[in-house]
Amino acid sequence: MAEALRVGIAGLGTVGASVARVLADKAAELTRQCGRDLVVTAVSARNRGRDRGVDLGKAQWFDDPAELARKADIDVFVELIGGEDGPALGAVKAALEAGRHVVTANKALLARHGVALAEIAEKKGVLLNYEAAVAGGIPVIKTMREAMAGNSVTRVFGILNGTCNYILTRMEAEGLSFDACLKEAQRLGYAEADPTFDIEGHDTAHKLSILTSLAFGSRIAADDIYLEGISNITQADIRAAGELGYRIKLLGVAQKTESGIEQRVHPTMVPTSSVIAQVHGVTNAVAIETDILGELLLSGPGAGGNATASAVVGDIADIAKSRPGFQHGPVFGRPARELRPYKKAQMRSHAGGYFIRLTVHDRIGVFAAIAKRMADNEISLESIVQHSAGPEAGSQKTVVLVTHETTEAAVRKAVEGITKDGHLTDKPQVIRIERAE
Ligand code: HSE
Repeated sequence: MAEALRVGIAGLGTVGASVARVLADKAAELTRQCGRDLVVTAVSARNRGRDRGVDLGKAQWFDDPAELARKADIDVFVELIGGEDGPALGAVKAALEAGRHVVTANKALLARHGVALAEIAEKKGVLLNYEAAVAGGIPVIKTMREAMAGNSVTRVFGILNGTCNYILTRMEAEGLSFDACLKEAQRLGYAEADPTFDIEGHDTAHKLSILTSLAFGSRIAADDIYLEGISNITQADIRAAGELGYRIKLLGVAQKTESGIEQRVHPTMVPTSSVIAQVHGVTNAVAIETDILGELLLSGPGAGGNATASAVVGDIADIAKSRPGFQHGPVFGRPARELRPYKKAQMRSHAGGYFIRLTVHDRIGVFAAIAKRMADNEISLESIVQHSAGPEAGSQKTVVLVTHETTEAAVRKAVEGITKDGHLTDKPQVIRIERAE
């Protein structure tokens, strides 16, 4: 049998501890699959004493992850520290420079430094695997990196944040407040250390930037993403969406348009009958549309220790199975030097349908004024519905409009005009509608 693969793990939080447990509990099966043992020989974590449900007594401890990366007797450095800079970046760079394979679950790190790290990995002829960085346990990186050669992707979109999907699902199913659902997600260990990262869409944006690069062969452009989170989604939006045959999801969407690539993260109305609308709770889903394959939808557990550990262990096993001396495939599906500069499509040119919810004074002429602003901006309406805003609403009414395909620029101008007309009693709500089968 080949020599054991020596694994060093930096970071023993929820995911790191799960990875160590899976490697221990499934040792015999992994040995059968890989033809060699997978042994954790070194670890680095802040707290040595914590019970992690696994015996790491034989592993060498390092206080400094970069030292582990450079000096430990390891073949693979597994980075589960998190954070886009600081110790994670230093340690991953050190490992790659030292000619060690790297496995990471760190989407923020890849979103910021992925291309530079890929250049080092490719120069050194080592693997940089990151399946767990996007959509938890779903093998979407492997699918896009290895299984879609020759396909031209036109759009990739998905539910990439378990915390947001959990919150929106529970808000809809149980009529609970946003805050109550967020607390529950945190209690269950889905949310990031700072939950604004999840709910304001940054986590989704990091993951989307990686998928965009794989989809379109472009350099990662995590700062060029249009971003809106879910913290202003209310029960009124969820109910109105339901009445119109839609469900609200936080989607990350990357799409090729005539003027460039659109990258956007925002709450989105998808038809209730679409497959992606059936993705509930912490589950993630990624839809990929290509010229050869058509539409592929992958869905599965997107957050939590075990789902993430499954992807990390899969990446380690791939390294264990790779042949020594074999030239490893490029990190983003094509050599890093071949990645093209990112050409951004302006959000104002985005074309699609829109849901607009307005809370207005109940007086004569309001409907006519709204309709005029729409017509002035050449927006064609699919429906316009009026409800009382609630039993105590008095002289307020809610008007919900759904547009046919129009542009972001037209909608922004129309809503600005309606606001100026002085008929609104609250902030207007605008939610984009996404085409989905
Ligand atoms: N906080 C993330 C989520 C976990 O909710 O999906 C994995 O990135």
